[in-house]
Amino acid sequence: MQLLTLKNNKVRYDMGINKTGHLIHLYYGDPIEELPEEYIESHMDEINPDSQLHEMSAFGLGDYRSPSYQIRLDNGTVVTDFIYKSHRYIEEKPGLEGLPSLYLNDNSEGKTLEVELEDSYSGVIMKLSYTLFTNIPVIARHVKVVNKGSMKVHCEKLLSGIVDLPRADYDVIQLSGGWSREKKPYRRPIMPGKIHLDSKRGLSSHAQTPMLTLVEKHTTETNGRAYGFNLVYSGNFVTEVEVDAFDRTRIMMGINDFHFNWNLEPGSSLTSPEWVMVYSNEGIGQMSRTFHDLYRKNLLRGKFKEELRPILVNNWEATYFNFNHDKIMAIAREAKDMGIEMMVLDDGWFGHRDSDNSSLGDWFVDKRKLPDGITKLADDIHGLGLKFGLWFEPEMISRDSELYKKHPEWAIHVPHREPGDHPFQRWQMVLDMTNTEVRDYLVRVVGDMLIEGKVDYVKWDMNRSQSDIGSQTLAPEAQGEFFHRYILGLYDLLERITSQHPDVLFESCASGGGRFDPGMLYYMPQTWTSDDTDAIERLTIQEGTSMAYPAISMGAHVSCSPNHQVGRVTSLEVRGHVAMAGNYGYEVDLTKFTPEEKALAIKQVSFYKSVRELVQKGDQYRLLSYTAGGCGAWMYVSKDGSKALVTHVRSLAKPYAPYGRLLLGGLESDAMYEITLMENQEPGQSFKAFGEFLMVLGLEVTNKFGDFLSQQWTITKL
Ligand code: GLA
Repeated sequence: MQLLTLKNNKVRYDMGINKTGHLIHLYYGDPIEELPEEYIESHMDEINPDSQLHEMSAFGLGDYRSPSYQIRLDNGTVVTDFIYKSHRYIEEKPGLEGLPSLYLNDNSEGKTLEVELEDSYSGVIMKLSYTLFTNIPVIARHVKVVNKGSMKVHCEKLLSGIVDLPRADYDVIQLSGGWSREKKPYRRPIMPGKIHLDSKRGLSSHAQTPMLTLVEKHTTETNGRAYGFNLVYSGNFVTEVEVDAFDRTRIMMGINDFHFNWNLEPGSSLTSPEWVMVYSNEGIGQMSRTFHDLYRKNLLRGKFKEELRPILVNNWEATYFNFNHDKIMAIAREAKDMGIEMMVLDDGWFGHRDSDNSSLGDWFVDKRKLPDGITKLADDIHGLGLKFGLWFEPEMISRDSELYKKHPEWAIHVPHREPGDHPFQRWQMVLDMTNTEVRDYLVRVVGDMLIEGKVDYVKWDMNRSQSDIGSQTLAPEAQGEFFHRYILGLYDLLERITSQHPDVLFESCASGGGRFDPGMLYYMPQTWTSDDTDAIERLTIQEGTSMAYPAISMGAHVSCSPNHQVGRVTSLEVRGHVAMAGNYGYEVDLTKFTPEEKALAIKQVSFYKSVRELVQKGDQYRLLSYTAGGCGAWMYVSKDGSKALVTHVRSLAKPYAPYGRLLLGGLESDAMYEITLMENQEPGQSFKAFGEFLMVLGLEVTNKFGDFLSQQWTITKL
């Protein structure tokens, strides 16, 4: 009997090798000093595979829960039996071939346990890797299968890992929704049977997210245990939560095994995406703050990793496809007046794209709209002292395009079938990222345009789910590899483009947050959170997104009122307050602002600059859940504890209004603070109080007449 333990001062994870050589899961949670012998023995000696806690589990050996992998052998059977061979601890974290993953800035930040198992009949090896980060409750893990045998095998399922917990009295929080309704948190109890969340769309999707939180029944934002699971992957994923007949809970996440069949020739291998597990015994909020710090420090890369992000204006909701050089310059001049730092030209500047049914793939300038070309526009915008950003949707091809005339075979489609026109999917087809020619083409044409357009920022969009699944470059027996190969191809493309243009800030987008996942954040350090820019809808979307992703990565813009997605009328003030929870900007025709609106926008921009570091690099506290009640509230505290920003938004007013108090978090009990209510984006009334008071009795919130009211306070430690 041998124990393999990962332990630091925040978390502990144990597995053991039992008498039959199987890898048994023992413990995951608080960093307790010791596991009692009796506990270890009873789990290690468990003889029923169906109630055993496993580190990985196959079908066909007596465990009737969902397996974490399935390998079909040349005799057609799917029974494999992986037995412990060796393990080692290394003082580093190797990267994952072709896949994004967390990295260590230096080797003191973590250590890795690698365990090797073998199925003796097939000769297939399974390598399980677990990196424990130093002093933080984070374990990142993945699995690699290597065919060291002489027969060709087929991997039909390979999830990134299992967590088998010996209890079932938990709730899960999933983040689900749809287009413009991304990542709404849903909390529900787990029960005997299975929860199965997945994407079959070719992208991680709006509908589901590869992020799941498992919590104890009494866990809240500020108290109790929470296990956060997030997959570093941007394609089809699956999350399985299963409660079995013995009240054990199994959680698994990984590449969706639906339409997945990977050929493993002798000598070849397959690596699963990385699975990030964050533990907290101080509530859900602490779990999120650990994710935020981790992603800021060990996931985001490049020049912009640490840089405060520019405040931008984007012309999409201002003009849609109907713009020209002068119109963009008029918006840019207003932006400059208001202190905004970047002008982004969205969709419609290329080919002959006057609506969304043409020209994707034709990444050359539409001279009707920009007669002097993109360089002139960039020069004029730069001349104002603004940065210049440009929209692309490189993974797509319109049937009405020069590119489609030349290369119809580059579009994903089923051989010998006319590709369907799916008008609801924007009259466009998806380019086949498994094809190296396609990727080379995109690296060249997008790269050329970045240079020609002197582009400082790219919005990299992706606006449809995949259908008509078929690749011309894959052999018939490899079509089951398509979805994963698409993502591997995409990652290769992103790595090449972003490393060849290190001075460009990239923001990813998939009709808003359809691919807001850590896989994309590894290449592009910010994401457009949602196409829904309504301040009240955004309360839910941003709350859910903040479960794992830091504000610096979360694009949030002020748009016009009535809002274009829901028709809601809200004040410019509330729109500003909500957008200031993230990476701030405007998505509105600034030339149409009234003088009063312009005056307020100038103050908003200058105020956001003063709190930008606090928001983008500070600690976030979710104070009130809009999803749970009618008010949303959150707070950012600077890392040195000297400053904080508190925002409260009330949706609908009540008659004979009750008094509400907002309890704060993250302050020092015995420190004295000055609290200033912002009025019209300028400092208003202020008072002094100890941190203890602010966290126990808090701030009085508005009970004024009227819907959609917000308040903002700045807090300074004295
Ligand atoms: C997607 C994006 C929007 C905008 C449009 C342009 O929907 O999410 O922000 O860029 O495409 O077509």
